[in-house]
This record gives sequence, structure tokens and C-alpha cells, in this order.
Amino acid sequence: MFGIFQIIVLLLIAAQSYASNENCTLESACTCNLKSAGLLNLAGSGGGLDYIEITSGVYTYRYYPCGVKADWGGVCTIENHPAVCQQTRDGEYYVLGKSNSYEITRAVAKGDNTYFDFLFQDGTSDFINGRRNATVRVMCDIRGSHELKFISESPIINYNFVFMTPKACLYKQPDAPIGNILFIVLMVTLPVGLILYLGIGVGIMACKGERRLGLIPNIGFWIIAPFLFFDGFLFVFSCIPFVRKYLKKTIEEDYEKMPS
Ligand SMILES: *[C@@H]1O[C@H](CO)[C@@H](O)[C@H](O)[C@H]1NC(C)=O
Ligand SMILES: *[C@@H]1O[C@H](CO)[C@@H](O)[C@H](O)[C@H]1NC(C)=O
Repeated sequence: MFGIFQIIVLLLIAAQSYASNENCTLESACTCNLKSAGLLNLAGSGGGLDYIEITSGVYTYRYYPCGVKADWGGVCTIENHPAVCQQTRDGEYYVLGKSNSYEITRAVAKGDNTYFDFLFQDGTSDFINGRRNATVRVMCDIRGSHELKFISESPIINYNFVFMTPKACLYKQPDAPIGNILFIVLMVTLPVGLILYLGIGVGIMACKGERRLGLIPNIGFWIIAPFLFFDGFLFVFSCIPFVRKYLKKTIEEDYEKMPS
């Protein structure tokens, strides 16, 4: 039978393998959990309307970082899942790339210069050239403002944008956090300590003239130690009714059986 724990582990594994960019442990059309630098989450970066707009020449562009929340016009509607949309001066609309057809082509952790390249494909079809694509480079802006820039249409019907946002300012953490170091120190000192304890202890006991099992230092304590640990454990959890019931039933017999 599956416990809740197994399900959580399976979900974690499924989520991990979902990232297609090698530098993201987890990703979506507006998130990337960047290894050792933290989570990029563009939710809310478009303000209340959840898009950022820029006009360049005769076109107006809208970028919906975490999906479109309201229809704009033409094909730029919720049901088409646009990530980037274009409006011409004549009121025509084109989807330049869809949020459900995305790829994070690059995710680079470089402090103030951290950036992510989101490629949105499957835009409105062009008669000659095929489907429109849009690349949005999401870059850290240390000044703390959100800004969309239209860079170019290059090559034809491939649209390039830069989105400056403080949400992309992620900083690499040191590789070995203090917890890891403590763990390693413990893993090394525990066995060494045990060997020293036994070695010196056995030496002392041998000098005292002990033989066989008597050579092990504090043998009396070590024989009852498992019982002591178990009782200590039960005592800690004795506030739980189930454990208290079990304790009441067994504690007297156990203590009578225990070697002293
Ligand atoms: C992964 O990160 C490294 C170092 O920051 C970078 O050089 C590389 O281009 C990144 N790869 C991808 C696929 O984003
Ligand atoms: C869209 O982008 C992909 C990946 O860069 C590319 O292979 C494809 O040719 C592009 N589509 C068009 C119509 O240029």
C-alpha cells in the first residue's frame, strides 16, 4: 500500500524530471528553479493586468509572463494561450508564441547578470514562413523595475524581446552549506571516536586483567543501552495517547526482565 510519504517522494521525482533545461530542477512557462541559485517565479511581474506592453514602430506587443488572464482581441484570447502577442496599427492580432509550447533554452546564474531565455513557439502561421516564434530573455534588473524591450524580428517571424525584472536577480549560494559540513564532520568523528573509545577502553580493561567480553569498556551499560534508548523514545512521545497506552501495559514487565 502507498503511504503519503511514498506519494510525496514520487511527486518530487516526477516534478524533478519535468525540467527540460539542465540548469533548472523544476520549470514551467514562467518559473525555473535554478540549481543552487534559487527560484525564478514571474508570477505577478506583469502587475495587476498580468502583462507588460511595448510599442515599437507600427506594432504593439504584449508579454504575458504567467499566462493571459483576459482577451485582448483577434486571436489573442485566453483559449489560444498566447505568451506573446502582437497588434498592428490596423487592429490585426498575431500570436507570436504560446505559453503551452515553451522551452527554456538558456538558464544562466550570474548574479546581477542572471538571465533566462524562454522560447515560445507555435504562434500564428505565416503564409510563407511558417509559425511565428518569440524568444524572451528574462534578465535581472537591479534597479527593481519591470520593463519589456522589443529587440528585433530576426530571422523573419522570429521575434526577440528582453524582459527586465528584479525577479530574475538570483545569487549563487555557496556549494557546501554549514549543515553539510556539520554532517561530514559527524560522519568522520563518530567512527573515529568509537574506534578510539574501544581501543583505549580495551587496553585499560586488559591492564586491569579482564578477558573476553569483560574487555569491552562499560559492558554493563552497553547491554542495557538499547532498552534505555527505546524507553527514552517512548517517554518523549508519551503525550500521544496510543503510545501512553502501550507504555502502561508493558513498562512493568520490561523493567523486571532487564538485566541490572
Ligand atoms: C547552464 O549554466 C551554465 C553556467 O551558468 C551555462 O554556461 C550554460 O549555458 C547553461 N546551460 C543551459 C542549457 O542553460
Ligand atoms: C521556431 O524556433 C525553433 C527553435 O529555435 C526553430 O527550429 C524553428 O525553425 C522556428 N520556427 C520558425 C518558423 O522559424
